[in-house]
Amino acid sequence: MDTPIVILNYKTYLESSGANALKLAHDLESAASESGITMVAAPQAADIYRISDEASIPIFAQHIDPISPGGHTGSSLINTLIEAGISGSLINHSENRMKLADIDEVIKLCRDNEIESCVCTNNIETSKAVAALAPDAVAVEPPELIGTGIPVSQAQPEVVEDTVKEVKAINKNIKVLCGAGITTGDDMKAAMDLGADGVLLASGIIKAESPKEALLDLVSKL
Ligand code: G3P
Repeated sequence: MDTPIVILNYKTYLESSGANALKLAHDLESAASESGITMVAAPQAADIYRISDEASIPIFAQHIDPISPGGHTGSSLINTLIEAGISGSLINHSENRMKLADIDEVIKLCRDNEIESCVCTNNIETSKAVAALAPDAVAVEPPELIGTGIPVSQAQPEVVEDTVKEVKAINKNIKVLCGAGITTGDDMKAAMDLGADGVLLASGIIKAESPKEALLDLVSKL
């Protein structure tokens, strides 16, 4: 991952599902090419192949299960997701929390398969614990701000600043992203000024009248 980085978590909004998932991927593609900023799509598993087949942007899974090939009905296998087109994955999003041992297992699966791991955390302490597992990135998101439009980088700057400080003290190679309520260029600039390597965001872009314009505004102050 180069810095600064923007990861758009598609979650399960209708505006970012199915045919809309592809449309949003094209918005990310053109905003990335106009701005020169790395923009990653994290769509639902069912939309990964559709996007990788038609758009040239990095794609992350929203979740990978800690399993190996075999009998695991209903699970998401890393091998299939890679074949569908991912180059990384979110892990432990606050809307899909995992056990510590499973987080460790999925980070190792990502490392063994040479894809990037971005572990979501809810606070500074959890971020420190996860840093010991050496993922490629940690994304700190206070759950109470998710989906509110209140940006963590402006409402709780100490969470971003201290997570950067503590995680980099444990392993300086880990990228630190922040998320929750991030929408505008001011929100992203505040995050970068606090030392973050990028942002993880969703509703502010997905629900915007023009997601492409919202993406360009997001990176306009860098
Ligand atoms: O993964 C991104 C996230 O949980 C933040 O969501 O809607 O506050 O940008 P949102």
